Amino acid sequence: MDRIRIGGGRRLHGEIPISGAKNAALPLIAASLLSSGPLTLTNVPNLVDLGSMVELLEVLGVGVTWEKSSVLGVGGVMRLSAPGPVATLAPYDIVRKMRASFFVLGPLLARAHQARVSLPGGCAIGARPVDVHLKGLAAMGAAIELEEGYVVASCPGGLQGAEFEFPMVSVGATENLLMAASLAHGRTVLSNAALEPEIKDLGECLIAMGAKISGLGTTRIVIDGVAELGPATHPVLPDRIETGTYAIAAAIAGGEVDITGTRVDLVASLLMLLKRTGAEIIPTDNGMKIVRDGRRPRSIDARTEPFPGFPTDLQAQYMALMAFGDGLSHIQETIFENRFMHVPELARMGADISIEGDTAIVRGQARLKAAPVMATDLRASSSLILAGLGAEGNTIVNRVYHLDRGFERIEEKLSRCGADIERLRGEG
Ligand code: UD1
Repeated sequence: MDRIRIGGGRRLHGEIPISGAKNAALPLIAASLLSSGPLTLTNVPNLVDLGSMVELLEVLGVGVTWEKSSVLGVGGVMRLSAPGPVATLAPYDIVRKMRASFFVLGPLLARAHQARVSLPGGCAIGARPVDVHLKGLAAMGAAIELEEGYVVASCPGGLQGAEFEFPMVSVGATENLLMAASLAHGRTVLSNAALEPEIKDLGECLIAMGAKISGLGTTRIVIDGVAELGPATHPVLPDRIETGTYAIAAAIAGGEVDITGTRVDLVASLLMLLKRTGAEIIPTDNGMKIVRDGRRPRSIDARTEPFPGFPTDLQAQYMALMAFGDGLSHIQETIFENRFMHVPELARMGADISIEGDTAIVRGQARLKAAPVMATDLRASSSLILAGLGAEGNTIVNRVYHLDRGFERIEEKLSRCGADIERLRGEG
């Protein structure tokens, strides 16, 4: 298994181009099930998770071509078409690899009026049930049963439009229902919908395919179902988690980094925090410049919240920054339980972090020391790399396959800015 070595202590200078968002691309790929197509996606990042999603769509009968880009900063192009009838069994072997596979449930029900989808796996960050997805689809008339680890759902006459209020804010459930409602009979009103930008991106793609949707970007989305959807071309939204990760990298390592191909509004909550820690943020035409003089960051508390609040997917990375803070900070995780798996790994590098309930208390240190560490989930992996940029010596991050699920060419992007980082192929 590959490992990554990071020699700490180098400042970063240069440009980091941001890829298309994994979390936008995953539901967009699933949306191809809603029409005979083709759906053409541009700005597609080359990530293992997208490969898993494509594998699933192919099993379901979708034809996929994917031209991956070999140029840093240029996204790939994916064409998906499902002119014939689709298969309706999403098998455990594929779904277990990635929770986002569950996105096929809504589109399959909408198009084929039945589906048998394995309950998902994915990052081990808490229980992560799918009850809200199921409640919403049941409200639209689907009969749903659980059989041997599979969700078995059917709606013989098609899905019916419904009024559904999400009992909790869920990104994935909002996306699943948005797709399902596009082909339902009549009007669906989703309230307490999640506000994450990936939902608006999906909605805009569905509109390009012919869906009738209003209220995107608000908590109340109204969908008037149509009989069929058609071909469309859609660029994948820039990745806000990747954007934020590199902004934090610059704040830890110091230097001047131009983060391009992205938008400040996607990471406004993080940028406000970074400013308070002492980083300078300069918005640019296609992103932002992060300038930091290498002094210790001020310790500033953070709390994860649904968008537009501070994202849980940046919590681990922000904690790496706070590990170098000049005092005490509290980082509260309100979205997922058990999302502090990076804490013992950061502690191996000398970070002083204790956990009380849903809050990590971080006592900043003047130095961290390199150590062999273990990546435990996708975002935690990136936090260990960031910590390595600021630590003394050579940090080795083991089990980097998690990283490849969600960060495109991270070692190349950082080394182009002067970081001492390399991938060690093979055993580890
Ligand atoms: C998405 C993102 C993930 C991010 C998360 C929160 C994708 C592919 N993944 O995940 O990277 O960390 O949003 O921003 O976009 N919940 C339930 N029942 C449900 C659904 C969710 O109890 O049916 C709970 C979850 O366990 C969690 C909270 O709701 O505690 C938020 O989850 P949700 O917004 O659904 O996250 P995902 O869509 O899985």
